[in-house]
Amino acid sequence: MLRFLTFHLKMSSIASRNWTYFTATYSNTNYKLPPNVEQFIMKNTEVSDNHLTPQIRLRLFTPRCRFWYERPELWPSSDPYWAIYWPGGQAIARYILDYPDVVKCKSVLDIGSGCGASAIAAQMSGASQVVANDIDPVAEIAIRMNCLLNNVKPFPVFTSNIIGTHLRIWDLILLGDMFYDEELSESLQTWLKKYISVHETLVLIGDPGRPHFISHSIFKQLQKVAEYELPETTREQNYGLTRSCVWKYQP
Ligand SMILES: C[S@@+](CC[C@H](N)C(=O)[O-])C[C@H]1O[C@@H](n2cnc3c(N)ncnc32)[C@H](O)[C@@H]1O
Repeated sequence: MLRFLTFHLKMSSIASRNWTYFTATYSNTNYKLPPNVEQFIMKNTEVSDNHLTPQIRLRLFTPRCRFWYERPELWPSSDPYWAIYWPGGQAIARYILDYPDVVKCKSVLDIGSGCGASAIAAQMSGASQVVANDIDPVAEIAIRMNCLLNNVKPFPVFTSNIIGTHLRIWDLILLGDMFYDEELSESLQTWLKKYISVHETLVLIGDPGRPHFISHSIFKQLQKVAEYELPETTREQNYGLTRSCVWKYQP
């Protein structure tokens, strides 16, 4: 199995980092991230439409990219989750493109945006305001590049950890594949419960049925709104997961 996929499926939790790591030297490799991150992303990703939303082109790792095969430890910053279009995000973006009224004239916050596809789908479908959030600063750059790739006006991307904080009112919050880690799932649920009890925000969660998700107590508070069969390539990358769903959070 591809080495990269070992990382891909490990789905370890990610600590918040800052820009200083861009120039950090990694002891195992002495590898430095080039100062021009955009060029680095261009060189190490490929534009792909091989997913559930082919109308959104994304810079991703593909089997023709170096880091698909090389050890993830060689990646010179935090785990490059933004270089994968996760099944949960694919389902949410597909759902938004299929039912644009869900976002039309609404303010949308995409938390854990990764490559930014769900937020891009919201922007394409007529949301009045779109903001993406991801604690990985490289994701911020990748999201902006993906916006430009799709002729979508870039929207703000925040890289602070907002989970657990006081947020303004959003009409819709998107969470694509964010229930991969027990600690993160716990903090998300606690925070969502509090947030929803004050603001009547719609929360959509995309997930292909990962163990952390279906065994979590939040699962009892969800209503399935859509289910999609995953494309062959996504199935291969996700060890047998064949479908991905969109859930509405109803505490
Ligand atoms: C599995 S990826 C999903 C990406 C995207 N939503 C998708 O479905 O393609 C999870 C993303 O969440 C981000 N993340 C992890 N913890 C976070 C947090 N506390 N706040 C915001 N983003 C976070 C990671 O950097 C990563 O990009």
